[in-house]
Amino acid sequence: MLELIDVHSGYGRTEVIHGVSVTVPDDSVVAIMGHNGAGKTTLLRTAVGLIATKSGRIAFDGEPITKLSPSRRVKRGIAYVPQGQQSFPQLSTAENLQVVADGRKRGKALIDESLDLFPALRELLSRKAGLLSGGQRQQLAIARALITEPRLLILDEPTEGIQPSVVAEIERTIIELTTRGGLSVLLVEQHIGFALQAAQRYYVLQSGRVTSTGDGGARAETEVRSAMAI
Ligand SMILES: Nc1ncnc2c1ncn2[C@@H]1O[C@H](COP(=O)(O)OP(=O)(O)OP(=O)(O)O)[C@@H](O)[C@H]1O
Ligand SMILES: [Mg+2]
Repeated sequence: MLELIDVHSGYGRTEVIHGVSVTVPDDSVVAIMGHNGAGKTTLLRTAVGLIATKSGRIAFDGEPITKLSPSRRVKRGIAYVPQGQQSFPQLSTAENLQVVADGRKRGKALIDESLDLFPALRELLSRKAGLLSGGQRQQLAIARALITEPRLLILDEPTEGIQPSVVAEIERTIIELTTRGGLSVLLVEQHIGFALQAAQRYYVLQSGRVTSTGDGGARAETEVRSAMAI
């Protein structure tokens, strides 16, 4: 579904990603792990086109997208939830969902389906997004991304800074989403246990390079911990 092939990218003249290759197959969860500053966010921003690829290639469904703008990648079916749960803080939860649904034929149904996945948001529809807790904001951000009917959902640390009970809720939803079929997830995650539980494949990123990759599942945990030297 998504292929990054020997991708190099960075900021200005500083290269941060030094030749990374990552494949996300159809109907699968792929986890990227790595320490702070390893380049995980930079890699995701490159995948969605917010940062230019200096060399290497990106393909989606076998077609090159390396030069496509972020909005064209969204149209192809790639949704991105950035680190830090951004929504419009002055708009209510309902309005935040509505702005994404506007202009979509199935808009209302899509909002309903998203709320079915995150029932806690139903109680918060009139509350301003800026007043939601971190976990609630994260759920809203994922709900908004799903309204674009993505085939690939890219999540940057969806459980960062969130209390454990809400982490479990978000984890459950991500796993539920992908077991239905038709959706793949590229997940950056510091919770190694959860990432490996959800993922069929993992990559460890260190200083902008993949230093370890393998199949997901609980048995990979020792491997990943030693690759990350923690
Ligand atoms: N806008 C920017 N301009 C210049 N350098 C940047 C910019 N954003 C990030 N960097 C640098 O790129 C490197 C990788 O940062 P990145 O945010 O991709 O790491 P990360 O793995 O996502 O870390 P974290 O786990 O803390 O989110 C870091 O050295 C960082 O300082
Ligand atoms: Mg990051």
